[in-house]
Amino acid sequence: MNGNGHIPVLLEEVMDYLDIKREGIYVDCTLGVAGHALQIVKRNPKATLIGFDIDESSLLKAKKKLEPYADRVTLYHSDFRYLPDLKIDFTHIKGILLDLGLSSFQLDSPERGFSFNREGPLDMRMDLRNKVTASKIINKYSEHKLAKIFQEYGEFRRANRLARVIISRRKLKKIETTSQLRHIVEEICPWRPKKGKTHPAAKVFQALRIEVNQELKSLSCFLEKTGQKLPKKARIIAISFHSLEDRIIKHTFADLATSNDSPPILKILTKKPVIPDEEEIVINFRARSAKLRAAERI
Ligand SMILES: C[S@@+](CC[C@H](N)C(=O)[O-])C[C@H]1O[C@@H](n2cnc3c(N)ncnc32)[C@H](O)[C@@H]1O
Repeated sequence: MNGNGHIPVLLEEVMDYLDIKREGIYVDCTLGVAGHALQIVKRNPKATLIGFDIDESSLLKAKKKLEPYADRVTLYHSDFRYLPDLKIDFTHIKGILLDLGLSSFQLDSPERGFSFNREGPLDMRMDLRNKVTASKIINKYSEHKLAKIFQEYGEFRRANRLARVIISRRKLKKIETTSQLRHIVEEICPWRPKKGKTHPAAKVFQALRIEVNQELKSLSCFLEKTGQKLPKKARIIAISFHSLEDRIIKHTFADLATSNDSPPILKILTKKPVIPDEEEIVINFRARSAKLRAAERI
């Protein structure tokens, strides 16, 4: 654990699959609070790190933690999808890490509105330069569009009913806080805490967050574009926390590892996704749904 209570997910597995002993550039596309990134530069004095985070407050935290290694670190407040456009020598890249989703730092900040468990504004923007907040979506989208989001991104069973109720409630009063939305969900799906069961609002909040941040849009395109640019033996490691993301990673890796019109460019290193063991889940509950997939450029 680090000083902020953040525990990097599948840390040793990430270090192994990235094969961090090599001299060269490692790219952490999702720095968060630098849990993984710090270990890369700390364990390998010959590693140079490029880091991305779309969330400025996370980036500032990461910057502070990486200060002792600043001469080997370059950070960008940017969406990682711009990595392929960077004017750098891609031939020096040894590994790329994507640890998708949110950090506990973001989830635990009530003012960001990511958690249904914390009272706050319905915001959910990772990048505060983005104009679209969760509140805007809830109060402006059509019933059909809302239902589609809850269904597709949250796999929420009562998506149509939830969208209908939201439309009728917002006519009476704008829906602006996490607790307002949580209460609406609880009306539709009454909640009794039970071991092993997740609160129904979790799926609804996940769906909204994906829509606000357009999280799935360019993942496949990014993996493909980046894969093409990597030198031989460079590794891509991707950790996801829900099935939609995992499906995209699995299929994109499989496509790039198969010869279709062109020869394959990746070799898959993980036949099945790597998941945390019981011991890790006990220490770090956030890790429970993590799935890691790794591939190597051929
Ligand atoms: C799960 S956390 C990463 C935690 C990190 N590995 C650590 O151990 O501290 C994911 C981070 O990725 C960032 N993020 C999510 N999507 C992004 C994107 N498209 N571009 C850049 N950063 C992104 C989030 O803001 C968040 O800080």
